[in-house]
Amino acid sequence: MSTETDPAGGRNKMFRTKTVEESIRDTEEPEHALKKSLSALDLTVFGVGVIIGTGIFVLTGKVARETAGPATALAFVAAGVVCALAALCYAEFASTVPVAGSAYTFSYASLGELPAWIIGWDLVLEFALGTAVVAVGWSGYVRSLMDNVGWHLPQSLAGTTETGGFGFDLLAFLLVLALTAILVLGMKLSARVTAVVVIIKVTVVLVVIIAGAFFINADNYQPFIPEPVAVPPGSGLDSPLVQVLFGYAPTNFGVMGIFTAASVVFFAFIGFDIVATAAEETRVPQRDMPRGILGSLFICTLLYVAVSIVVTGMQHYSRLSVDAPLADAFKATGHPWYAGFISFGAAVGLTTVCMILLLGQTRVFFAMSRDGLLPRFFSRVHPHFKTPYRATVLLGVLIAVIAGFTSISELATLVNIGTLFAFVVVALGVIILRRTRPDLPRSFRTPLVPWLPILSVAASLWLMLNLPAETWLRFAIWMAAGIVLYFAYGRSHSRLGGRTEPMGTKAP
Ligand code: ALA
Repeated sequence: MSTETDPAGGRNKMFRTKTVEESIRDTEEPEHALKKSLSALDLTVFGVGVIIGTGIFVLTGKVARETAGPATALAFVAAGVVCALAALCYAEFASTVPVAGSAYTFSYASLGELPAWIIGWDLVLEFALGTAVVAVGWSGYVRSLMDNVGWHLPQSLAGTTETGGFGFDLLAFLLVLALTAILVLGMKLSARVTAVVVIIKVTVVLVVIIAGAFFINADNYQPFIPEPVAVPPGSGLDSPLVQVLFGYAPTNFGVMGIFTAASVVFFAFIGFDIVATAAEETRVPQRDMPRGILGSLFICTLLYVAVSIVVTGMQHYSRLSVDAPLADAFKATGHPWYAGFISFGAAVGLTTVCMILLLGQTRVFFAMSRDGLLPRFFSRVHPHFKTPYRATVLLGVLIAVIAGFTSISELATLVNIGTLFAFVVVALGVIILRRTRPDLPRSFRTPLVPWLPILSVAASLWLMLNLPAETWLRFAIWMAAGIVLYFAYGRSHSRLGGRTEPMGTKAP
């Protein structure tokens, strides 16, 4: 079936696949095995914990103000539909291939080693930069709370600001280091901390929706979809690729603005795919994975639509704040007490988002290392804590530094393009694996294959096309670097490449 028994390798080497059985067997080697302790509820809490974050707390204001107005709620619906389609594909894969690594592992089992490497490299971008983006968002909320009680950090330690000032973001840096330490100490501790924080975060979101509903002024919804406004010429690479490609004058607002907005607020949904990265640590992945993924996605979509409708009703979209729109909408209606409570909850809530993104990151890195595509040194689990501590520490420190020196907006779109690309690969993987391994037991089956996965590919590509041309350029550079690394290291060190025995005869 696969080409891994071909020692000559040649062109096929790049498309050798790791079988599902091999992936599962790898997880059973004692010094490379993770503890199986998570339930469906843990996974849903995990999902909600990472999904609700900078997207709703920070990006909603920017998008409503600059590209979609009150129709931001529709942008959330559009992005949610794209994610739901992808989630149905993710759920089948995660319930069939229950090992660490998410889309990386799935594509290794279906598409081959090079595509798997590409997707793994892509996920490193998504999770590492996602962690940094959220850490910087968190730092902003904490500084705003500190300002309330009269504590001010020196400008040089307060990060890069909108006004062009440059500084080291000390708080974001320290947050990532602290979370790294928690993750090294073990999964169970992290899940417990996460559960408490998720309750606080969901409470805050519900307060925004319920209390905010009393302060809605219906006039603010006029017009619900603002007229298109031409973007000043000269911003070429900033414009969505679809507008650059088809050469029409870039606009904000209008119907196209809803899709531009959707490609940005898509960041708010990132995270449900990370639930899949915890498959190896789930007690009954065949049953709990689909429940965890779809459940958390559904809850978040409802909350996002409600929050954006309420916030754009409380304050005219053109006056929404860009930094802390949910809190500031309450200030604008004369309720500063609510604003303080929301800022506090946001700061607490963003902590879990950051932690779970970091966890997803280390798990993908761990899986790639266990397969020999990255040095095997990183895939040893800690003898006591049973966590991949070497990968966690290396990546934690690197991301802390990135968070220290980074500003949010451009990185968020880069994270989005990487994630959407992973969605495309996973959807294609579902179709391919159905054909190559129809025999595998699938506790969750994506409905309407191949049509639903094809629709998922089209929908993800559409959102990608709505991202700025310069985001595509940066993404292409990152992926080119990954391909060079694969040919320089992974291809020759791959553990699968060393497996020349016939399947099933290798000692465990
Ligand atoms: N969905 C997460 C957020 O919005 C990444 O922060």
